Amino acid sequence: MNGLIPTDLSAYAEKLIRGRRATRAFRPEPVPMNTIRAVFALAGAAPSNSNAQPWRVEVASGRRRDHLADVLEAAHAEQHTSVDFPYSEDMYTPVQHERRAAFGADLYGALGIGPGDHEARAAYDAESLRFYGAPHVAFLFVTGDGGPRLAADVGAYMQTLLLAMAAYGVASCPQGLLSFYADIARAELGVTEGKLLAGISFGYADNSAPVNRVTTKRAALETTTTFHG
Ligand SMILES: Cc1cc2nc3c(=O)[nH]c(=O)nc-3n(C[C@H](O)[C@H](O)[C@H](O)COP(=O)(O)O)c2cc1C
Repeated sequence: MNGLIPTDLSAYAEKLIRGRRATRAFRPEPVPMNTIRAVFALAGAAPSNSNAQPWRVEVASGRRRDHLADVLEAAHAEQHTSVDFPYSEDMYTPVQHERRAAFGADLYGALGIGPGDHEARAAYDAESLRFYGAPHVAFLFVTGDGGPRLAADVGAYMQTLLLAMAAYGVASCPQGLLSFYADIARAELGVTEGKLLAGISFGYADNSAPVNRVTTKRAALETTTTFHG
């Protein structure tokens, strides 16, 4: 034992944290409701500023999920977007742009979409508004003033949720793209407070899909982290 944590938990942590990945092709069968309830209950154990728990979560399945996909697809066709958290390509540093480009090359490469094929890339992004075929989608709203501190709490909630799902064999894809349709999500889900941070598509992975074999790299520890003392 290492304090209260059995030392063999580290092996599970390695497997769980490194085993989670963004999944972009799902099988249609739904996740049982008791599993869904278990993973969202676990996600609620996430830490937050003063334990304020500023998340508001809406989960859509079945016909509600299908209707949302239709409405989002139509909104995209009409270029009817609305964001609560402003987005700009300028928010990234040059090294972050490089990482994004490397990821994009791997992703679109796995899909057989060439680097210059902007039309095919745009079509794939539009198609992703149907949640990559996942039978469920969760929308994460930030309540309170929706500022960066509370948004960070919802970020912690999101990762806790993704890991809880991974532990239960449920695959997921966080989708910032869904946050570009904040007003539509609010109206469709009857949400009256909060800012939309992201959507998370989830279900069981289609392991036969090449896109699910894309693996992402991470920067070396030394490039992000300094140990003082
Ligand atoms: C806040 C957030 C927003 C994201 N938005 C999208 C998205 O709109 N579409 C998508 O396919 N993946 C999206 N992703 C997934 C990232 O591309 C993915 O997490 C990253 O490339 C690392 O890969 P991994 O999750 O497989 O480790 C998002 C991830 C996060 C955390």
